[in-house]
Amino acid sequence: MTYILREKGFPPSQLLERLASYASIDMDPSSARLWGHIYEPGVEEAWKIALEAYALYQKKNMLDPTVYPSIIRLENEVVSAVADLMGGDENVVGNFTSGGTESIMLAVKAARDYYWARRGRGNVPEIVLPVTAHPAFHKAAHYLGLKTVITPVDPETLEADVDATAEKVSDRTAMIVGSAPNYPYGVIDPIREMGELAEDKGLWLHVDACIGFILPFLRMLGEQIPDYDLRVPGVSSLSTDLHKYGYSPKGASVILYRSKELRVHQLFSYSRWPGYPLVNTVILSSRPAGNLAAAWAVLNYLGLKGYKKLATKVLETRKILVEKLPALGFQVLGRPQAGILAFTSPEINVFKLAHIMSEKGWYIQVQPGSIHLNLQPSIHLTIAPKHHEVVHRMLDDLARAKEEAKAYPMPPENALRFLQEMGLTSLDPESVGKAMPRILGKLGLTGGSLPSDMSLINELMYIMPPELVEQVLAIVMNELYSARG
Ligand SMILES: Cc1ncc(COP(=O)(O)O)c(C=O)c1O
Repeated sequence: MTYILREKGFPPSQLLERLASYASIDMDPSSARLWGHIYEPGVEEAWKIALEAYALYQKKNMLDPTVYPSIIRLENEVVSAVADLMGGDENVVGNFTSGGTESIMLAVKAARDYYWARRGRGNVPEIVLPVTAHPAFHKAAHYLGLKTVITPVDPETLEADVDATAEKVSDRTAMIVGSAPNYPYGVIDPIREMGELAEDKGLWLHVDACIGFILPFLRMLGEQIPDYDLRVPGVSSLSTDLHKYGYSPKGASVILYRSKELRVHQLFSYSRWPGYPLVNTVILSSRPAGNLAAAWAVLNYLGLKGYKKLATKVLETRKILVEKLPALGFQVLGRPQAGILAFTSPEINVFKLAHIMSEKGWYIQVQPGSIHLNLQPSIHLTIAPKHHEVVHRMLDDLARAKEEAKAYPMPPENALRFLQEMGLTSLDPESVGKAMPRILGKLGLTGGSLPSDMSLINELMYIMPPELVEQVLAIVMNELYSARG
């Protein structure tokens, strides 16, 4: 595809019509049909206020807050309110960022620089983290030159194994990680015990509560939530996203530190050039103040009462799912404690199940797992308040989809047959590399689009070695974003 600008721009009405026609191929994010990536509160006024707040600040740049002092006030108010909810005392500081990945990347940078300041640069610093930790930590390590050391989780509870963490800790450890909750299963790691380990060994413990902004409100509703936040003395930093269970438009997260002494390692300044002296709190320099204003507006519009009301809907929906899924023959993995959960089945091809559900108009998220890492395939559900209205309809469709999926063999039968058809007897990188153009063509992964049925591709991800899956994913993305044809 080649796309070039016309000499004369479109009139606004035509332009928006065009945009609407592009958007018509997408699922409607307000429809409550997506059980992943989206946190629809179903409160129209909250979105309206967010957009108005965004518009008020859209032209202002957070690059140099001294030009717009109100930005400092807004950011400090957002960080203070979030710190209070996450058990922070008056020494806790933090910043507003564009999302969970940026918050995590900054925490890793701060922990690395803190490590360097104390231990020198003789070692490659390490992050010790459970297999369930979000890939953002691996990405941060990749970008920032650290090494990750993965620990197993308890096979029953799916919580991080603190003894396994302790075993992997060494004088190279710059950070240990716990999630509250983890993304794959919605399970909270034993943060209190991890905090004790961190205090005992003088380690930096980061709590990833990116998808945990619902936890303070669940606790206010009387739910038993284990200690997970800055109330645990050994926690050095904590990330939590406002664009998830804070219901702000995308581009909103907060990174918190126990003290200014830790946060100072997050900052970057440079003055050895002829331009303006640069000092950044976060990764980006120029960035819109609109996201911050929108997040501030949503927080203050909903207030504690609004968040508790929305948390009640998520909680009730989760309880319905946890009760009904086993009645349909599915197994809920671990004990989900926040707004997300995963389920699987020993008899149903969950890849096909997800595809059949998509034909019925639902998006449920496949977690392919890996035969090589002993991770079983599962389906992830992120519960939004609006799902409260549709959960029974979704379960009815799931029951029907399950019956239809019975016609398909269990993984990895389809994937093995496909590889045989492709003439592949071994999955070594060289053979797969040679066969790749044929494989991509056969799977419908060329020409900038994805096949509607992803079940075979998911199944292949389940059986291919992870290094190979990562390579293929990069190749596919390279193809998808080939804008010049
Ligand atoms: C636990 C956890 N950490 C980090 C992230 C990354 O957040 P983002 O996608 O906002 O960068 C996610 C995203 O789902 C998450 O669930």
